[in-house]
Amino acid sequence: TITPVLLAGGSGTRLWPVSRKRFPKQFAPLMGDETLFQASARRLSGEGFGAPMVLTASDFRFIVMEQLEQAGIAPGQVVIEPSARNTAPAILAAALMAAAEDPERLLLVAPSDHVIPDAAGFAAAVRSGAEAARAGRIVTFGITPDRPETGYGYLELAGTGEGPQPLARFVEKPDAASAARMLAAGNFLWNAGIFLFSARAMIESFRAHAPQYLEPVEAAVDGAVPDLGFLRLARGPWEGVEDQSIDYAVMEKAANLSVVRFSSGWSDLGGWDALWREELTAAPSADGVVADAHSTAIDCHDVLLRSDSEDLQVVGIGLRDLVVVATSDAVLVADKGRAQEVRKAVSSLKEKR
Ligand code: GDD
Ligand code: MG
Repeated sequence: TITPVLLAGGSGTRLWPVSRKRFPKQFAPLMGDETLFQASARRLSGEGFGAPMVLTASDFRFIVMEQLEQAGIAPGQVVIEPSARNTAPAILAAALMAAAEDPERLLLVAPSDHVIPDAAGFAAAVRSGAEAARAGRIVTFGITPDRPETGYGYLELAGTGEGPQPLARFVEKPDAASAARMLAAGNFLWNAGIFLFSARAMIESFRAHAPQYLEPVEAAVDGAVPDLGFLRLARGPWEGVEDQSIDYAVMEKAANLSVVRFSSGWSDLGGWDALWREELTAAPSADGVVADAHSTAIDCHDVLLRSDSEDLQVVGIGLRDLVVVATSDAVLVADKGRAQEVRKAVSSLKEKR
């Protein structure tokens, strides 16, 4: 079986005001009834998957338990990182903990804030990579790119064909010119940020390409203490770990990468514009209006209107290309093309207080 490793430590400021510091986007019901975290756990809860390991921050530990329980999913180990050190240390810690029981165990690392409508197709794609992972490969999942996005990693295909294939190169977050070149070249996919590997293969990759993480992360795992059913990594050694993503620390350097193409829908839900696009894919409308049960759009085009309460009705008249999001203590009104700048607003709000 494959052990899902859910990364649920991120903050998601671009989906403010629904995503908050104490309640980030992965735990909010952004699309549909389930939260993104619950949907991520459910996607990986069927045949072939074991109980999920969850890595998160101390502030979110009870939210994690509550949401898994509500979704009817029995958790495996819930691991608390004393501070956010990005994905490289978190993934190495997961691999070391799994290896202590069985070095050959397969782990599937997945973010908890993505939208993947075809859950069954995704689980099948993951299972199709298991054999390559058992053979010591790190399996990535490739999405067909449709724009020169600079916020993603790019996977260069070595050949064509079905099933897992070896990867020629991994390029994390290229500049705009390189992204345009790779899109035009046609033999690149986006990295979905999801990785399948054996515990042993990941530890060996760190040993080969990023050995400086081993000592402090091992010490943090060895010194971990149980706390009300959670496992708290040791703060001292963890504070000394480099803050870096797995993509830069390992993936760009590794020579044992494979890729499984995933061609159903996938979104990293990196902002309100992405959420608007996803909602329209799920339920197409000719005028591009996405309005929730507490919102009314009159003569609007390409807008997202939402409110989190029946007592706060949102009405839009004659609007175009806008995002309006109302919560009990904040209202966002933004040009849809500039929805990414919400991040700036959040930092300036922090400074004011
Ligand atoms: N537990 C934990 N601890 N989780 C973390 C931490 C941490 O310190 N830092 C980030 N995460 C979680 C985030 O919440 C997210 O779910 C996932 O790890 C990836 O981190 P991001 O910060 O969102 O990465 P990214 O989007 O910039 O880039 C990655 O994902 C892209 C696809 O969405 C890369 O893998 C790219 O190559 C990829 O294209
Ligand atoms: Mg991301």
